[in-house]
Amino acid sequence: MPSAARIMQRCDALARHSELAGGLTRVFLSREYRAATEEVLGWMREAGMQASLDAIGNVAGRYEGVRAGLPCLMLGSHLDTVRDAGRYDGMLGVITAIECVAALARQGKRLPFAIEVLGFGDEEGVRFGTSMLGSRAVSGTLDAATLDARDAAGVTISDALRGFGLDVSRIPRLARKKGEVLAYAELHIEQGPVLEAESLPVGVVSAINGFSRLRATLAGVAGHAGTVPMKLRRDALAAAAECVLAIERIARSDAELVGTVGRIEAKPGAINVIPGEVQFTIDFRAPRDALREQAVRAAIAAVEKTAAERRLECKVESIQELSVTACAPWLIEQFERAVAAEGVRVRRLPSGAGHDGQAMQAIADVAMLFVRCKDGVSHNPAESITEADAGAGARALLRFIERFEPRR
Ligand code: GLV
Ligand code: MN
Ligand code: MN
Repeated sequence: MPSAARIMQRCDALARHSELAGGLTRVFLSREYRAATEEVLGWMREAGMQASLDAIGNVAGRYEGVRAGLPCLMLGSHLDTVRDAGRYDGMLGVITAIECVAALARQGKRLPFAIEVLGFGDEEGVRFGTSMLGSRAVSGTLDAATLDARDAAGVTISDALRGFGLDVSRIPRLARKKGEVLAYAELHIEQGPVLEAESLPVGVVSAINGFSRLRATLAGVAGHAGTVPMKLRRDALAAAAECVLAIERIARSDAELVGTVGRIEAKPGAINVIPGEVQFTIDFRAPRDALREQAVRAAIAAVEKTAAERRLECKVESIQELSVTACAPWLIEQFERAVAAEGVRVRRLPSGAGHDGQAMQAIADVAMLFVRCKDGVSHNPAESITEADAGAGARALLRFIERFEPRR
C-alpha cells in the first residue's frame, strides 16, 4: 500500500526548498531547485529505481519491468513552482508516483512494462516565461531557439542549464520515440472546486484546456511628470491600463474563456517620470482552440487600436501556444475502473490548468487523475489537500498501474 502519510511528509519536505522565506517559490535551475532534485533522486533510488538528472534538468527514474529495456508507462508531474506557491501543485504527482513504485518494489513486483517517473524541471514557466521545458524536451517538441529565452536578469536558458552543470548538446537525445512510451499518466491536484462541491476525493480528467501566452510591448515617450501637459503625453502605462481592461472584456465575452494579465512592468518606473515603455503578459485558456485563437486576435486588435489612438508603438509577440489536449478514452476508462474499484463515484472533469501532458501528447496518449483540493484554491500558499485524499489518489494510481493494459 502506498503511504499517504509519507506522501504528505514529502510534500512538506520539498516545500522547504524555497527562495521565499516563510513561503514557497522554487523556480527552474535555482539553488532551491537543485536541493529539491537531490531529495527526489534519493527517494527514487530508495524506491528501487535507477534515477538521474537529465540534460534539461528533469529528475528521471526508471523501474524495470519483467525484463530490462521494455517500453514504459510514464508517470510524472513537475518540481518547479509559481511565486508564493502551494506545496502540492506538481510535487504531489511526482511524490505519489514514486510512492506507487515503492509499493511495487516492496512486493518484488515487476510488470510487463517498465515504469518511468519524471519530475519535470519547468512546467510553470515562471523564470523564463516559456513553460514545460522539461516535458517538451522529453517529447521532442522543444526547439533549439527556445533555449535563447532569457530570465529577468538576462540569463538565457542555455546558460542557466550550463551553469547548473548540464550538457545542453545532449538535450535532443532526451526526445522519446513513439512506442517507447506506452502512455503518459499524471496525478495532480484539481486546482478547482468541482470535486469538493461533489464530495469526491478524486476525478478523472477528460481534456486539458489549450493556452496561448503572449507578451505585449507599448512604447511611448518618457518625460517629466511635472512639466508635460496631459494632452501632449504618450504615456505607455495609461495605454496598458486600457489594454488590460479590454483583455478582461474579451475574456468575459464567453463563459468558457478565461484571460489574465499576470505581469506588467513599466519603465523607467519612477514616481516623477511618465512611463515610456510597458511590457505585459497575456494568458488565454479555453476548452476549444478556435475560441482561444479568436480571443488572441481580438486582444492583438485591442492593443493595436489603443496604441494607435494614443500615438504609441506596439508589438505583441506569441510566447507559447498549446492546443487542447483530449485525454485518451482507453486510458480514461482504465483510470475510471481504478477509481470505481476504490469505491468512489466516477466523475470526469476538464482541466482549466495547463499540464505537462500537453507536451507529452506528441509522443504518447495522455491521462490524468485529479485529487480534490480545499476550496479549489491553487497557485496560492493556501493550497491544501487532506491525507485521506492523497491516500485515495495514490491507491487509485497504484491500481491503474498494476492493471495497466497497453493499447493493442
Ligand atoms: C500551470 O499551472 C498553468 O496552468 O499555468
Ligand atoms: Mn501550476
Ligand atoms: Mn501543475
